Amino acid sequence: MMDLEYIKRNKKTVDKWISDYFNRINETTSLYKAIEYGVKNGGKRLRPYFLVYLSKILNIPLSSYKQLALAIEFIHCYSLIHDDLPSMDNDDYRRGKITVHKKYNESTAILAGNSLYGMAIELILDKKVHKDPDIRLKILKILLSYSGGKGLMEGQFNDLYYENRNISIEKILLTYELKTSKLFELSTMLPFILKEEKNSYIKDAQTFGRNFGIIYQIADDFSDSDKTFKESGKVPGKDKKKGKRTLVSKIGRDKALDLCYELANEATKGKYIFGEKKYTFKKIIFNIIDNIKIK
Ligand code: IPE
Ligand code: IPE
Ligand code: MG
Ligand code: MG
Ligand code: MG
Repeated sequence: MMDLEYIKRNKKTVDKWISDYFNRINETTSLYKAIEYGVKNGGKRLRPYFLVYLSKILNIPLSSYKQLALAIEFIHCYSLIHDDLPSMDNDDYRRGKITVHKKYNESTAILAGNSLYGMAIELILDKKVHKDPDIRLKILKILLSYSGGKGLMEGQFNDLYYENRNISIEKILLTYELKTSKLFELSTMLPFILKEEKNSYIKDAQTFGRNFGIIYQIADDFSDSDKTFKESGKVPGKDKKKGKRTLVSKIGRDKALDLCYELANEATKGKYIFGEKKYTFKKIIFNIIDNIKIK
């Protein structure tokens, strides 16, 4: 999945920012070693990709969008560290390497995740994001809301709560929207919010992020049964073993794919949305669906 050249190129840039960040803070405690491991252990840096791409289109300064890109990736990494914990998905491998709690221990993994969340908040509050503190606060508020108990946390809660239960398609899709789309929505919306663009643009950006996230989660569910450890960097077959209620297990492969196409069409039909770069975004979203079909 995601072997598009420009995504790989952006990953190199984001990885460099991450290295610079850790070099600058220069912390060497065991806790920070775990934090650094949980961020630098791989990752496609897909959420920063959307944010960086859209920020460039909107002429946002690098010093500003770099902060946002790091903040979102740190929240994502924190969510993965916690997602893998024994009390959650109980995974020993992530990004082809042993998980943070396996390499260190469980308490360290919990604390590393919490620390990353705090680091993300600090990044958003930095003056470099925007000279107007009201705008920085506006961004922080939406970030906290989307990653909090009514967003990502609720999604993660439901994902676990629904294990081995019979739930509706709507509940499955809402869970995907919360646990996966919320961070993508932030990536696509924040550049427009930072530039105080009109609401219709922000809305289109959100629709893209939401639908992309749902498709991405469906693709991830497929990969759990279709891909090898070498391909996904995760132990295959875990969802079934854990009794996860995935969309594919509920409606089957063909209907899940149909829904992906519907969502992709809706996500890319906005009039302006991403202007001249529309084609790139279309390519990314349909590329994910094409990859699902390659078993
Ligand atoms: C993994 O996200 C969690 C899901 C939403 C499926 P990614 O596939 O973006 O993970 P990394 O960051 O590239 O490892
Ligand atoms: C997405 O769900 C994880 C988060 C939103 C943190 P999964 O639990 O399916 O992700 P993987 O498969 O562990 O990457
Ligand atoms: Mg999970
Ligand atoms: Mg998981
Ligand atoms: Mg998964």
